[in-house]
Amino acid sequence: MVLISTMSGSGVKNAAPWSNITPILRPFDDIVLSSWIKRDTLINIRTTKEFVINVPTAGMAEPVMICSKNYPPEVDEFEKAGLRRPSRKVKPPGIEGCLARAECILTEEIKREKYSLVIGTVVHLEVDDGFFNEAGEMDYERAMPLSVMLGEKGLWFTRPVYAGRYADYSEMFLRKEDRTAAE
Ligand SMILES: Cc1cc2nc3c(=O)[nH]c(=O)nc-3n(C[C@H](O)[C@H](O)[C@H](O)COP(=O)(O)O)c2cc1C
Repeated sequence: MVLISTMSGSGVKNAAPWSNITPILRPFDDIVLSSWIKRDTLINIRTTKEFVINVPTAGMAEPVMICSKNYPPEVDEFEKAGLRRPSRKVKPPGIEGCLARAECILTEEIKREKYSLVIGTVVHLEVDDGFFNEAGEMDYERAMPLSVMLGEKGLWFTRPVYAGRYADYSEMFLRKEDRTAAE
């Protein structure tokens, strides 16, 4: 899960937790998120065409829940949750303490009656080096990214642990030459 930061047309900062968000294939250039119509986040993205995807750590469940409250649009949720970190290429600030921040611009909105799919392009990506190994892979034991499982009456905040199996990408291909062809 992530925290999405946005800004209203009049400059009020907003942050909201988001589960339904994914990169569109690799590399991590285009992303898609789904939003219910009644979200300040969606209105802000439509208005300013900018947003930041922040990847929180396991210790951040409390600020995440503060941002999940349905404050009216004029309330600065960065102040409520004590968050802030200036962005490089977009106006909405990123969130300090997160292990990665992707600054994005809106490229397309696919509207449905009750929800919208928002497609964005990452214009600047920042990662906290302390959470990544020499190969550039996330050290999930150190980073402890926050994840969430939806229960019957509430949310179970969780974090990934190693399941005891490493798989080389080449295992996905029956023939060696297919690997090169697919890259
Ligand atoms: C863990 C978590 C994940 C969420 N994921 C989504 C989501 O994918 N799409 C969505 O529309 N709302 C999602 N929400 C709800 C919004 O975060 C929540 O309604 C928030 O108040 C919206 O704030 P906003 O109106 O300032 O945008 C999620 C909430 C939580 C706690």
